[in-house]
Amino acid sequence: MKKIAVLTSGGDAPGMNAAIRAVVRTSLDKDLTVMGIQRGFSGLINGEIFEMNRRSVADIIHRGGTVLRTARSHEFKTEAGQKKAAAILNAFGIDGLVVIGGDGSFHGAQALSKYGIKTIGIPGTIDNDLSYTDYTIGFDTAVNTVLDAINKLRDTSTSHERVSIVEVMGRDCGDLALYAGLAGGAESIIVPEKGYDINILCKTILEGKLRGKMHNLIIVAEGVGGANEIAQKVEEVTGIGARATILGHIQRGGSPTANDRILASRLGFRAVELLLEGKSARVLGVRGGKVIDLDIDEALAIDRKFDKQLYDIATALSY
Ligand code: F6P
Repeated sequence: MKKIAVLTSGGDAPGMNAAIRAVVRTSLDKDLTVMGIQRGFSGLINGEIFEMNRRSVADIIHRGGTVLRTARSHEFKTEAGQKKAAAILNAFGIDGLVVIGGDGSFHGAQALSKYGIKTIGIPGTIDNDLSYTDYTIGFDTAVNTVLDAINKLRDTSTSHERVSIVEVMGRDCGDLALYAGLAGGAESIIVPEKGYDINILCKTILEGKLRGKMHNLIIVAEGVGGANEIAQKVEEVTGIGARATILGHIQRGGSPTANDRILASRLGFRAVELLLEGKSARVLGVRGGKVIDLDIDEALAIDRKFDKQLYDIATALSY
């Protein structure tokens, strides 16, 4: 292993820069040449590859987004695209590739490993939807971004004695809604893993009002969606004013939290170690506070987890 490359792919996540920095500086520490690939697999196919040094990653640990840029490539999903990408890596003399991204990016790493490229995946997504790891890089920051929005919405919800419905990202995973909802003291958390009943929701809102609740915060995961429709229905049934807020891409930006920077640094460091150990087609994660790695196929086959206990705690504390 003499030359490795790093790319970020899929949706950007806060902490990706800290991971890039860790990969680059660990590589240089271990006398490897390290290349940056711009715009994910799409840039790889176009040969957007450049050599990186310590200064290339200076002043980025605190920045959201990804300095390598990112993209979702359709061409790379085809066999022809994957063959081309592997040929380009060979042409550049790249022996190992670190892919930072979510499950789509891991499928890409998995495909390249079948063409003989040594690949390691680092989980970077705000969704926390990779079952094999307790946390993905960017999730903690996104939870805090949503929490900040919830805190602000609570002020206006209380002042007007209105219901506030907040729709958060996460694809089919309810973790962002669940964690931010619990931390923000939400009255109801609606996630795809549990679903909801509009009549029970309205009844809960009315009961809360009778008990003297002045605000009502409802967090809806985008996997369920329909915040505007829920607001309309709640207003119709309960007679209480309701407003929907769809947080959108604001959840993807911002300076990463200490937790995300530390996780990114640990995983970036370990990714280079694994390549030096000759490992390939593995993904990194964290379980019970310990860094773990496992086979990509195995990792992607694990069924989605849902923290029912956390959900029950949030429900019990919401009255
Ligand atoms: O995977 C991250 C994520 O922000 C999801 O939560 C969301 O569903 C999706 O990406 C949005 O994708 P795009 O940025 O392409 O609109």
